[in-house]
Amino acid sequence: MFLKSLQLKNFRNYEKTNIQFSNGLNVFVGQNAQGKTNLIEAVLLTSVGKSFRASKDKDMIKFEKEHACITTFAETEGGRERVDIHLFANKKKSILINDVNILKVGELMGVVPTVIFTPKELKIVQSSPIERRAFLDIALSQMSKGYFYTLMRYEKILSQRNKLLKSGKAEECSLSVWDVQLALEGAKIIKQRKEYIERLKKLVRDAHLFLSDGKEELFLEYLSFEGDDIVMISENFEKALVDDREKDIRLGYTNSGSHKDDIKISLQSCQGGGGVDKCIDLRSFGSQGQQRTAALALKIGELELFANHKKERPILLLDDVLSELDKTRAKRLIERVSSFQTLLTATHLDFEIEGRIFLIHNAELKLKKF
Ligand SMILES: Nc1ncnc2c1ncn2[C@@H]1O[C@H](COP(=O)(O)OP(=O)(O)OP(=O)(O)O)[C@@H](O)[C@H]1O
Ligand SMILES: [Mg+2]
Repeated sequence: MFLKSLQLKNFRNYEKTNIQFSNGLNVFVGQNAQGKTNLIEAVLLTSVGKSFRASKDKDMIKFEKEHACITTFAETEGGRERVDIHLFANKKKSILINDVNILKVGELMGVVPTVIFTPKELKIVQSSPIERRAFLDIALSQMSKGYFYTLMRYEKILSQRNKLLKSGKAEECSLSVWDVQLALEGAKIIKQRKEYIERLKKLVRDAHLFLSDGKEELFLEYLSFEGDDIVMISENFEKALVDDREKDIRLGYTNSGSHKDDIKISLQSCQGGGGVDKCIDLRSFGSQGQQRTAALALKIGELELFANHKKERPILLLDDVLSELDKTRAKRLIERVSSFQTLLTATHLDFEIEGRIFLIHNAELKLKKF
C-alpha cells in the first residue's frame, strides 16, 4: 500500500492543499505550530475514522468555516483506493470509500492501514494499562473488522452493565444476563489479543535486539484470564464477575474483564559473563531510555506483523519522535523502517536523511528535495 496524495480543504490551518507523496520516506520539516502534526492527523483520520487528539470532529474544521474535506488516494495490490472524509460544523461527519458512503466506521478499518508513532506512544511502557490496551485494539481493529465490531459490542454491554450497577437496582438475576454476554464478547477479545501478543513477541524481541546492539532482550506477556479457547476464557471471566459482584455493586462499575487487562513488558540483559542476568519488569524498574527503546521495538513489531499478516504494507506515521531519541536510535529507527512508506515530521534534522523533504511554513508546503 502506498499513499499517493492527500488533499485538504479547510482542515485545521490548511485552506486548500494537495500533497504528492513518494513511496519511500517523506519528511515534513518546519518550526512549531506550522501544520506538521495536522498533516499526520489528517492521514490518520482517513485511516481509522477519528483523530488521535481532537475530542470533537468539528474542532478539526478551519476556524470560522462550516465544512472540511480530507481526501487520500492510495495504491494497493488490488488497485486504487480513495477515501473522503467530510466534517461539518452542525452535523455528523460522512465517510466515502471510492465514492460510496459508508454507514459504519468499521468499514474503513484496514482500507488505508497506518501505524502511528508520536511522543505519546514513546511513553507506552510507563503509561497506564489503558494506553497498552489501546495499542492492541487499534492494531487488531485494522487487521480485522470482526475484532473492531466485537470491541464495539463489548463496550456497549459493559456500559449497560455499569449503568445498572450505578442505578442501585442491580440484582443477581438482572446482572447475570449481562455477565454471560460480557464474558462471551470479552473472551473473543482476549483470545485475539493473546494470539496477537504471541505473534508479536518474536518481532519485538528482534527489533529490540537490533536497537539495543544485542545487549538486551525484551519479553511480552498478555495479562488476563487463563485459557486458550473462548469457552475456557469466558468461564473464567464469568467466575471473576460473580466473585466481584459485591464489589461491583458497592463501587458502581465492573471491576474485572478485558477492559482491565494489561501487557507485561520485561527485560533481560544479555551481557554474558557467566552470571544469571535478572529479568526486570520494565514499567517499574526500567530506565527512561530502556522504556523508550522498548516502545520503539513494540511499534516496529506492530508494523512488521501487519505487513506479514496482510501482505499489504501499512504506512508509518512518525510525528515528532526523532527529537526524543538519541542520534544512534533515531538513525537505527529510520534504517529499520526504510522498506515502509513513511511520513515523518521534525522541527529540524540532525543528520542527512534520504527522502522527499518538504518545508512547512504557515500551512504552505515547499518541496526542498525530491
Ligand atoms: N481548527 C483550526 N483552525 C485553524 N487553525 C488551527 C485549527 N486547529 C489548530 N490550528 C492551528 O494549527 C497550527 C499548527 O498546528 P500543528 O499541531 O500541526 O503544529 P506543528 O507544526 O505540529 O507544531 P509543533 O512542532 O509544535 O508540534 C497551530 O497554530 C494551531 O493553532
Ligand atoms: Mg506537532
